[in-house]
Amino acid sequence: MIGFIGAGRVGAQAALEVASQGVDDLVLVDIIDGLAEGEALDISHKISETGVDVSVTGSTDFSLLRGSDVVVITAGLARKPGMTRMDLLGKNAGIVASVAKEMAKHSPEATAITVTNPMDVMNYVVIRASGFKKRRVVGMGGLLDLSRFKYILSKKLGVSRSSINALVIGEHGENMLPLGRYTTVGGVPLTALLNGKEMAEAIEGTRKIAIEVISKKGATVDAPGNAIARMVRSVIDDRRQVLPASAYLEGEYGVSGVSIGVPLMLGRDGVERIFELDLDGPEKGAFTKGVTTIREGIASLPAF
Ligand code: NAI
Repeated sequence: MIGFIGAGRVGAQAALEVASQGVDDLVLVDIIDGLAEGEALDISHKISETGVDVSVTGSTDFSLLRGSDVVVITAGLARKPGMTRMDLLGKNAGIVASVAKEMAKHSPEATAITVTNPMDVMNYVVIRASGFKKRRVVGMGGLLDLSRFKYILSKKLGVSRSSINALVIGEHGENMLPLGRYTTVGGVPLTALLNGKEMAEAIEGTRKIAIEVISKKGATVDAPGNAIARMVRSVIDDRRQVLPASAYLEGEYGVSGVSIGVPLMLGRDGVERIFELDLDGPEKGAFTKGVTTIREGIASLPAF
């Protein structure tokens, strides 16, 4: 069973994506009376017509999460135009800590996928508040950033998105690190296709594009829903996909005590392997700035 804590825009969209793929039964929980139930009914009606036979239920009652194999956490406030993800920290830390405790009570064996922003710091909060093994808690960010990097590159190069194999690591925030050096287009290194100025534009564009979507439609919904669904499937089906996501580091990249985006293998047991890359000077600089920002976020957390 797959649990969703938070049935707002992103939680509901992710649940719809997962349900449409007929992966497993779903439970949605939200504090707003009727919201999770309403979303569950709406999703159920859609999949009835498309012939998918999974059960989708919703409630305000966290005990319905009992027995979940994966729990997706999107509960909390979202950004408004002009806000950074870090601006949400104070409000969301308390919410995420409380729902992580509920998750641990009802689904102690689950793998948790943290989505709420600032995601890297919230992933740390989920680890601490749930008491789960660190590798069973993973944050969604890099996969979404990557979809934006791919979009920008496909436009710049005029090539099919399907030819682009890209990587974005680091903080899911102002210091995210699209890795042009580790990106290929049909096997051709991106560095052979873009000059320094074009690469810098693609990287900057990837960092800024989410807030453009938020200022135009109020929230980012479809692309996060897709990224969450891919991560859920990698865990539920033990696909062991290699993708960028936020993991608690214990010495990898020379870093300990923070959760940050790295390439990892995601399977039934959560983060089953972390891949280390050689970063050059500027890449290391951006990664380290991300680590520092996340560390400061962790240091400023209220008690929970
Ligand atoms: P939303 O406002 O539409 O939904 C949030 C939901 O959380 C609401 O329905 C609210 O009632 C619920 N909630 C609040 N406190 C709760 C609690 N204690 N227990 C259960 N439910 C609770 O917001 P949206 O657009 O769905 O975004 C959710 C979060 O995901 C935000 O923090 C946003 O910044 C983040 N986000 C992260 C992304 C990523 O790549 N990591 C991408 C997109 C959004």
